[in-house]
This record gives sequence, structure tokens and C-alpha cells, in this order.
Amino acid sequence: MTAKASTTKKFTILPNHIAIVPDGNGRWAERQGLPRLSGHRAGAENTRRMINYLNEYPIKYVTLYGFSTENWSRPEEEVKGLFQILTDFIGKCIPELNQNGVKLRHLGRLNELPPDLQSAINGAVAATKNNTGMTLSLAFNYGGRAEILDAVRRLMAAGVPSKDIDEELFSDYLYTAGLPDVDLLIRAGDELRLSNFLIWQTAYSEYQFTKVLWPDFSKKDIDKALLSFSRRQRRFGGL
Ligand code: IPE
Ligand code: MG
Repeated sequence: MTAKASTTKKFTILPNHIAIVPDGNGRWAERQGLPRLSGHRAGAENTRRMINYLNEYPIKYVTLYGFSTENWSRPEEEVKGLFQILTDFIGKCIPELNQNGVKLRHLGRLNELPPDLQSAINGAVAATKNNTGMTLSLAFNYGGRAEILDAVRRLMAAGVPSKDIDEELFSDYLYTAGLPDVDLLIRAGDELRLSNFLIWQTAYSEYQFTKVLWPDFSKKDIDKALLSFSRRQRRFGGL
């Protein structure tokens, strides 16, 4: 039996789109007397493991919160370190993404990022664009409110008449154009909030919060979230 088949059997209903807030890297490092950037490196390594694990399921869309528009307020050294970690991470992951048929996408304001990071992201998106397996969206320099404002600006710039604007059309102007709404949002790191992540796309999502800090978040925690999701009854406002 293939890995895909054996893991699918465990759950009756799987989410089509999972969003993840991988929080707690800093606290993970501090608890061990390590610099925060070590936590971010451990977090990136774990992200790689978790992407590979999720890829064993027939889950079509996974979206990760890497860096928010609010994270710029952190000390410059941490921000620069995060950019470096992502640049390295992307370079390292391309062969693996291609091997697993994963298509990478970026969500957020790319042009505000350092040029070498922009090219790393653009390069990885181009290198994986023909893959037909899971779509992995990386929200980096992403803010939910910024996304909505950017959509409004683009709608106005395109001269779209207000009577034509419905939810479907509006969605097409978001960074996530073409992606389905989020079914399950998982947040690691013991915080019970959304932090400006996919605020439009999670309107009817199921939420799973865990105290586990992201570098320690494991396959078991994914399975726990998937099991919980499969047991919930989603009504979308109906009966
Ligand atoms: C999450 O870890 C990663 C990013 C926000 C980039 P944090 O850096 O927020 O870790 P804590 O919350 O301080 O533990
Ligand atoms: Mg945090």
C-alpha cells in the first residue's frame, strides 16, 4: 500500500485546505537558553518535516504563515535572520518539492522584501509551477487587512463597477485568488488568536489550537487535528 493510501484510511473526511500558524519558535529557543534565531531554524526544519507528512495525505492546499506585515516591528537582527532562514529554506526545499509534486505559491507583498529573497521566492515558484500535487502557499510579508486593502485598490484601479462586486469576484482580487476557502486552521504555540491571517478566507473554518510550540509540533499533532476535524459537523450557517 502506498503512503498516501495508508494514511488516508485513518480519517473519513479530510480538509481540502489547511492553514497553519507555526508559532512558538522564539519561546522554544528561550526555554533552552538558545538565541531566538535557533528557534526559527528549528521551526523551518520542522516545517519541512510537516510539509512532507501532509503530502502523504490527499490534501490539496496547505498555507503557512511565515512572516506577517506586523513582524517588521521585531528587532532588525531577528527580521534579517528570518529573511536569511527563509532564503536558505527555499533553496534547500526545491528538489524535495519537485520530487513530491508540490507547487509553491507566495502570498503577500513581495516587492517590500529584500531583492535576494524576492528572487529566491520567484525562482522556487517558477521551478515548481508545473507540479500538479499539493499547492503550498507561503504567506510571507502577509497581512489579512493589507490583503483586503490591496484587493480594493486593484478593483478600483481596474475600474470594476461597484454593482459587479460580489464575494466571488472580490476573492479573485485577493492574494489567494484561485485557492478555496480554508477548511481547517491549526495554530501552534499556545495562543488563541488569528493574528491577521487569512481573515477573509477563514470565515467558516474550523480551528484547532495547541499548546505545543512549533519546533516540537509533530505528525501526531497533525493527526490529532485531522481527527478532530473529521468529527466536526460543519453547517455554514444552515441547520
Ligand atoms: C513564530 O514564532 C514565527 C514567526 C512569527 C516568524 P515566534 O517568533 O512568534 O515565537 P514566539 O511567539 O516568540 O515564541
Ligand atoms: Mg509568536
